[in-house]
Amino acid sequence: MEKSIESTKLLNNGVEIPLLGLGTWESRGKKCEHAVEFALTHRYSMIDTAQGYDNEDQVGKGWMASGRSREDIFITTKISSSNQGHQKSQRSLEESLEKLQTDYVDLLLIHWPNKHNFSLTFETWQALVELQESGLTRSIGVSNFTIPLLDKLLEETDVVPAVNQVEFHTFLYQKELLEYCRNKDILIEAYSPIARAKFFDNKEIQRVAEKHDKTPAQVMLAWGINHDLVVIPKSTHEGRILENADIFFKLDDEDMQALDNLDKRVRLVDGPWAPDW
Ligand SMILES: NC(=O)c1ccc[n+]([C@@H]2O[C@H](COP(=O)([O-])OP(=O)(O)OC[C@H]3O[C@@H](n4cnc5c(N)ncnc54)[C@H](OP(=O)(O)O)[C@@H]3O)[C@@H](O)[C@H]2O)c1
Repeated sequence: MEKSIESTKLLNNGVEIPLLGLGTWESRGKKCEHAVEFALTHRYSMIDTAQGYDNEDQVGKGWMASGRSREDIFITTKISSSNQGHQKSQRSLEESLEKLQTDYVDLLLIHWPNKHNFSLTFETWQALVELQESGLTRSIGVSNFTIPLLDKLLEETDVVPAVNQVEFHTFLYQKELLEYCRNKDILIEAYSPIARAKFFDNKEIQRVAEKHDKTPAQVMLAWGINHDLVVIPKSTHEGRILENADIFFKLDDEDMQALDNLDKRVRLVDGPWAPDW
């Protein structure tokens, strides 16, 4: 069946996740509110936020302004590194829910693994399992987890994360991680899926864009969709929000191979919590 903006994927716990979401990192204030409202009134059904983005309030307001019903949309938030720990993470979700003006989120992620203190991250995972049982989140997952860290988590728990949200784009094609996650039924959600618009002048991206009469951003997002990923591009501009949704077209094997070959292990997101990639 052809994919469309209405298409979803089934997570390992039976919850359906849309293939496209609006990212909101560095999206703040009225701009964020408007971007969320605009996206939700223009066929997007998923919003990606995080405690660390300091915009859960605005995401909640944008959703309210859109008039979309709660069951009709999918909200993801993430537990900040500073909120890891059993009680702290549970309390922090209560605050997130209040800001988002909702009784539950659809997906709750551990934003970063704590590479210096993995037992704290594991404690947080156990808290997420309880939050899912109590219905405060419909599904749970992780973010920025490498294969060794996923192995470590799965050694200690029977609850397999539904999602691993990681940086993933044509210049960082994490094939090994993708195969590992597929084998474990963990969905890869691609963040920074257009590599923050840094490589639109790449010749191969431009060639494929011309061939399909699309833009470089659309080609990079279509590559993710053709790899069966979920993508969450961020924009606060109406035109780009629309552009980033027109991505459900088929790339042929030759296009896909050429785009796969662009991988240069370019990592745009790093930081004090980043594991040893
Ligand atoms: N889990 C994590 O640790 C993590 C880390 C990073 C990101 N994320 C999530 O993933 C989302 C997306 O990643 P990202 O924000 O890092 O990068 P991205 O979506 O690859 O790129 C966003 C940047 O590209 C610009 N842009 C968007 N669409 C465009 C278009 N069609 N043409 C030209 N420029 C365009 C945006 O500017 P304008 O807004 O000005 O349009 C923004 O500067 C984040 O917002 C966040 O929700 C998660």
